[in-house]
Amino acid sequence: MIRQLCSVLNNDKEYKELEDMSEAEKEDGTRRDFLYVATAAAGAITVTGAVWPLINQMNPSADVKALASIEVDVAGLEPGSQLTVKWRGKPVFIRRRTEEEIEAARSVDVSGLPDQTSGNENIGESDASDSNRTIDPAGEWLVMIGVCTHLGCVPLGDAGDFGGWFCPCHGSHYDTAGRIRKGPAPRNLDIPIAKFVGDDIIKLG
Ligand code: FES
Repeated sequence: MIRQLCSVLNNDKEYKELEDMSEAEKEDGTRRDFLYVATAAAGAITVTGAVWPLINQMNPSADVKALASIEVDVAGLEPGSQLTVKWRGKPVFIRRRTEEEIEAARSVDVSGLPDQTSGNENIGESDASDSNRTIDPAGEWLVMIGVCTHLGCVPLGDAGDFGGWFCPCHGSHYDTAGRIRKGPAPRNLDIPIAKFVGDDIIKLG
C-alpha cells in the first residue's frame, strides 16, 4: 500500500518517511494493545478479588454452624441474678427474676407501652404482656438478646428507671420484662428461640 502510494508520488524520500511512520504506528499499536490487555487483566483480578470474599462470607463457617444452637446450664443462677452468654456473635441475657420483678412486670398496662408487641420469636405475633416474654409459665426466666434496639449497645442490668436494663449510649430504659419504657429505642429487647430442655438447661436456637 505504501509502495503503491510512493510509486504515485515517485519519491524515495517520501516513501522512506511513510514507511518509518508505519513502523512507529505498528509499535505504538502494539504498546497500546498491551496496555489495554494489561488493564483488562488487572480489572479482572480486582473484580475477582472483590467478589470472592463476598461469596466466602455467605458460606457459614464450621464454627458458625456449630453455634447454631447452644445449651446453657443455669443451675447456679440465683433469683435476681443474670448470666450473659455469647451466642451467634451476640450477648444473650438469661435472667432469673425475683418475685418483685415478676410482679412489677405483670402489673404494667400493655396499652401504654411504646412497643406493644412481644418481640418473642418463640410465639410469633403477640402482645407485650409479661407472660408472652418469659420462657416458663411462672415467669421466672427471661431470655433476651442483650443488644439495645436503638443502635446496638449492650444495656446494663439492674439499672434504669424501671428496675430492668439501662442503655447508657443514648439513655434507653427497659423494664423487668425487657420492654422499652423510656428513651430512643424503638422496640423491646428481642427474645430469641429458647426453651428448657432439662431441669436446669436452656437451649438457645
Ligand atoms: S444504643 Fe441504646 S439508647 Fe442508643
